[in-house]
Amino acid sequence: MEEFPRLHVSSHPAVLHKLALLRNEDTPPKLFRELVREISWLLGYEALLDAHISPLTVRTPIEETEGARLADRIGLVPILRAGLGMVDAMLELMPTAEVWHLGLFRDERTLRPVEYYNKLPDSATVDLCLILDPMLATGGSATAAIEVLKKWGAVTPVRIKLVNLIAAPEGVRTVTEAHPDVHIYCAALDRQLNEKGYIMPGLGDAGDRQFGTGKSG
Ligand code: PRP
Ligand code: URA
Repeated sequence: MEEFPRLHVSSHPAVLHKLALLRNEDTPPKLFRELVREISWLLGYEALLDAHISPLTVRTPIEETEGARLADRIGLVPILRAGLGMVDAMLELMPTAEVWHLGLFRDERTLRPVEYYNKLPDSATVDLCLILDPMLATGGSATAAIEVLKKWGAVTPVRIKLVNLIAAPEGVRTVTEAHPDVHIYCAALDRQLNEKGYIMPGLGDAGDRQFGTGKSG
């Protein structure tokens, strides 16, 4: 992991347990969606470890005490389609976050991302952007999403983090070289890509497996 100092791979037993179920080719879409949601929650928890808080005084039924509230304004950027399945869990963790959908699909021939939808507000009004996408394969989609956010104004001091379920070394390298300021949170760093750009061992096509469309890998 020394090659990727900004990569955070979860070692939590609950994540590892759920990830094995997620990878299983026999896992049906309903369970697959539930697992995407549950693992996203756990990864979001880890990605928020350095979020800023501000002090807050609360009154318990017994007495007053000091508490904290999340001070960072957060923007969630799910990459359509597959990133949609990660949104609900993240909103449970960060109920005040805004959600900005970004539509990118990977051209099957060139493996290059094609942007088809962008619902970013006019200006960058957040402190932290979390890009949500289950798969980091070649890194083309993630790099394109980061570039969209930076052009839009998400530059220092705005922090950008990438939350993926599974990453390939090729994708982590591409993102890290192009955007060394971006931290990546994932449940697994897999071996490599196959000739079609799918992650090995991976889980196949994250969009298809969530939405019950097609069979691939
Ligand atoms: C998948 C995945 C990522 C992208 C990763 O989306 O959800 O967005 O591929 O590959 P990359 O790192 O090589 O760019 P896909 O293009 O299949 O679209 P979908 O979510 O609509 O199925
Ligand atoms: N997109 C997916 O959904 N799966 C992969 O393995 C690679 C890209």
